[in-house]
Amino acid sequence: MPTFENDVFLRALRREPTPYTPVWLMRQAGRYLPEYNATRAKAGSFLALAKTPSLACEVTLQPLARFPLDAAILFSDILTVPDAMGLGLYFAEGEGPRFERRAADEQAIAALEVPDMARLKYVFDAVGEIKRALASRVPLIGFSGSPFTLACYMIEGSGSADFATVRRMVHERPDLLQRLIAVNTRAVVAYLDEQIRAGVDAVMLFDTWGGLLTTDAYHAFSLASMQSVLKALRPAPDGRPVPAIVFTKGGGQWLDSLAGCGAQCIGLDWTADLAAARGRVGGRVALQGNLDPLALLADGAAVVRAATAIVRTAGAAPGHVFNLGHGIVPATPPENVALLVDTVHRESRALRGTADGAGPR
Ligand code: CP3
Repeated sequence: MPTFENDVFLRALRREPTPYTPVWLMRQAGRYLPEYNATRAKAGSFLALAKTPSLACEVTLQPLARFPLDAAILFSDILTVPDAMGLGLYFAEGEGPRFERRAADEQAIAALEVPDMARLKYVFDAVGEIKRALASRVPLIGFSGSPFTLACYMIEGSGSADFATVRRMVHERPDLLQRLIAVNTRAVVAYLDEQIRAGVDAVMLFDTWGGLLTTDAYHAFSLASMQSVLKALRPAPDGRPVPAIVFTKGGGQWLDSLAGCGAQCIGLDWTADLAAARGRVGGRVALQGNLDPLALLADGAAVVRAATAIVRTAGAAPGHVFNLGHGIVPATPPENVALLVDTVHRESRALRGTADGAGPR
């Protein structure tokens, strides 16, 4: 069993008591950090950065060098999987992700296969490098897009404000959408399985667009496929448990079903009330979240107020991982992130009476 200098994050996922609330941030390695922009410029593009293990390792570690974060997250992207399926991912400057080919009709969807994981070797190599560089300081989170969220980009061919083509397909061709999701489900299992074999300590499913669905469609298309993924994951080679976090943006209303999906932790966006959510899930799962990322654009006093409010709303009971309700935005001042991390650590120690080194480490 690996031992970490700091395993507070993994203990919180297991809902064990911790001396303070662990914190990491979605997109913690990103454009708000000047050193990230410098490495990205050196790589030439975002995709070149993600596909070069030594550089992906370098940017993964950048936020940890600045802030006492309690976990690292693999630097990559969810769209590497459809890219490996042959859809041709590219990023048009300032426009977000795009695919050269879409998978929106009968023929294109029938032609899709689970990609050979050798095409994603750069991801698993990055995991190996990051694990060595971290030297057991903190755990490393691996991740994948959810089968449904990947389908959204594959069908639309890019991001979209409302994913109208996908929502139309839910009603018009649910069979076709299910076929696409079935291939994605097998691909996500293979992908996470390889990340686990390469050494990640926890996995997270990013279901960014599940919240666009009706309640019935969410259960049928997004939740069911995430459940299949979690059920199919094998334990790590050395037998260590690899906890899973599921984050459906806009999924707070489905918390009861989410709590039973097989994940150890459910991520919440900023619209959920953490105290109510903790009451609803009881001791079933840990919760992760949920500061509005835009709060980090305010002045320092406002950042401290907002972070303290979340720590107090979550309460002292075990099983809370502090995070943002979605990814950090590029305009975020890094000094506000420093203030946030310190506030979460300090206020959560105060809440538990473990300030001044009292209580467990
Ligand atoms: O959290 C982390 O620090 C790990 C790295 C990570 C990235 N993307 C890096 C990235 C993770 C976990 C993701 C997940 C991801 N990618 C999601 C799910 C989470 C979410 O944010 O909803 C989605 C939907 C994507 C697809 C994607 N990749 C989009 C929509 C964009 C453009 C958005 C933007 O901010 O411009 C990307 C690009 C991307 N992925 C960037 C980063 C740091 C910015 C690209 C750049 O450097 O130019």
